[in-house]
Amino acid sequence: MPERKLRSGQWYDGQDRNAYIHRAWMRRGVPGDAFGRPQIAIANTASDLTPCNAHLSEVAASVKNGIYEAGGVPLELPVVSLGETQVRPTAMLWRNMAAMATEEMLRANPLDGVVLLGGCDKTIPSLLMAAASVDLPAVVVPGGPMLTGTFRGTPLGCGTDVWRLSEEVRAGTLSQEQFTRSESAMIRSRGHCNTMGTASTMALVAEALGTVIPGLAGTPAPDSRLLEAAHATGRLAVDLVAADRRPSTFLTANSFRNAIVALAAIGGSTNAVVHLLAIAGRLGVELSLDDFDRIGSSVPVLVDLLPAGRFLMEDFHRAGGLLAVLREVRDLLDPDALTITGQPLVSYLDDAPIWDPEVIRTRAEPLVTEGGIAVLRGSLAPDGALIKPAAASPELLRHRGRAVVFDSIEDFHARIDDPELDVDADSVLVLRGCGPKGYPGMPEVSNMPLPRKLLEQGVRDMVRVCDGRMSGTAYGTVVLHVAPEAAASGPLALVRTGDVISLDVPARRIDVEVTEEELAARTPSEATVAGYANPRRGWERLYVDHVLQADTGADLDFLLGSSGSEVSRESH
Ligand code: FES
Ligand code: MG
Repeated sequence: MPERKLRSGQWYDGQDRNAYIHRAWMRRGVPGDAFGRPQIAIANTASDLTPCNAHLSEVAASVKNGIYEAGGVPLELPVVSLGETQVRPTAMLWRNMAAMATEEMLRANPLDGVVLLGGCDKTIPSLLMAAASVDLPAVVVPGGPMLTGTFRGTPLGCGTDVWRLSEEVRAGTLSQEQFTRSESAMIRSRGHCNTMGTASTMALVAEALGTVIPGLAGTPAPDSRLLEAAHATGRLAVDLVAADRRPSTFLTANSFRNAIVALAAIGGSTNAVVHLLAIAGRLGVELSLDDFDRIGSSVPVLVDLLPAGRFLMEDFHRAGGLLAVLREVRDLLDPDALTITGQPLVSYLDDAPIWDPEVIRTRAEPLVTEGGIAVLRGSLAPDGALIKPAAASPELLRHRGRAVVFDSIEDFHARIDDPELDVDADSVLVLRGCGPKGYPGMPEVSNMPLPRKLLEQGVRDMVRVCDGRMSGTAYGTVVLHVAPEAAASGPLALVRTGDVISLDVPARRIDVEVTEEELAARTPSEATVAGYANPRRGWERLYVDHVLQADTGADLDFLLGSSGSEVSRESH
């Protein structure tokens, strides 16, 4: 191991009063010879209010052992944790805050490297954004998915089956009592959602990006192999300091290309688009919305997991996991993109068999021939919008219909089940005021429930358009992330009920069939503007004033880029 001057030495080296202070207060709980060894933070998002991450303190204990064993000093750093199902108005509002707080605490403290422990949707993205901006050696341990729960003999997929069961109740095919009873069966064990939702997606994408020890992501949370890998990651973190392997040294545009290929091949969540754009924005890597379509849209979906398919993450891990998937699309991967180990991602693919071709398909027999995420543009979304064709109904991918417009989610809930609502199966449901500024925080409301009267007629999907996001566990023909959002003066604010909207996914278009002149002459109605958030103070005010649009990752304008790990002036 070559001798490197440690960053933490700027606190601990020397004999003066300040070095004395820094050491004296830290002697509690660390060995006498701790100073002068790499100081490794374990950024831990464990929290009782983030059930998906509640087990991470056990994972942290294994990481600690590995760090000590390799000669470093582990220091647990609790960081902002975001429980996707609990946090209001949406965990996404706090992603940038979590990233900012983590970045600043890593910079402010005597640290040389960091192990990032995340799981639930926003936690890995916020940790990676922080690591990119402080640019200290950093490696992720994804907390892993929960085991498969069953209800009345049938597996339950978190998220996806909640949407499905609640629609069944609304359609009258499942009793309220059974629905309530299924509640205790939904979450079988520790770990994050077990569908190919955002948490699973971001863990796998983090591995494809190179920030996780290859082969680890997707290991179920209760699996012993998670702790083994956590131990190995602790050891690796110490080596990273010696090698000075900081995010900026190996995360390149090619790493993001690999992440996009992986995202498409696993049939991952649309949320990964905003998260990857935000992480790239911190690194200064050129990445655009169009890259997702250009690189990813022709990649076949190989993973048969809910919401696009049938199985769950436990099956995925058993079937060979991410490396088995990547092996099938090896030719699409960048051969030079490195991982955190210093070895190229592709070097891990030689011995990565598919153990169950039902769950992980071969390239010859994909689940969907062209998966990925399609980027749409047009008069309704000049800066872009997304659709996940694999989760949509094929017959709706080209569709024209009359808009039925809602100004807020409250307006939507108040009217959607009204028997008098003028809506039919061909209508296009439009919901606005749900973008980063408008809500605020861009919640997962784009997959609007269908009108009850249409559900009762057997309608199971309709075209929906929204400036919000949708849960990675959701499905349907949903055009989302419309940019600019209504509250940022996007044309979505000007659409009226009755306007014809045309969706043409093969042509990558989403348009409102109103002339340019007429659209330009319109102004948003009072009800539309009243639907936009206008926070008085605090983080929400800061967020609304500074948040960027979805097409660039919805980060705050002043958080783009990196400030590095420069040590600030002394406090005494
Ligand atoms: Fe935490 Fe789904 S609620 S991952
Ligand atoms: Mg989610």
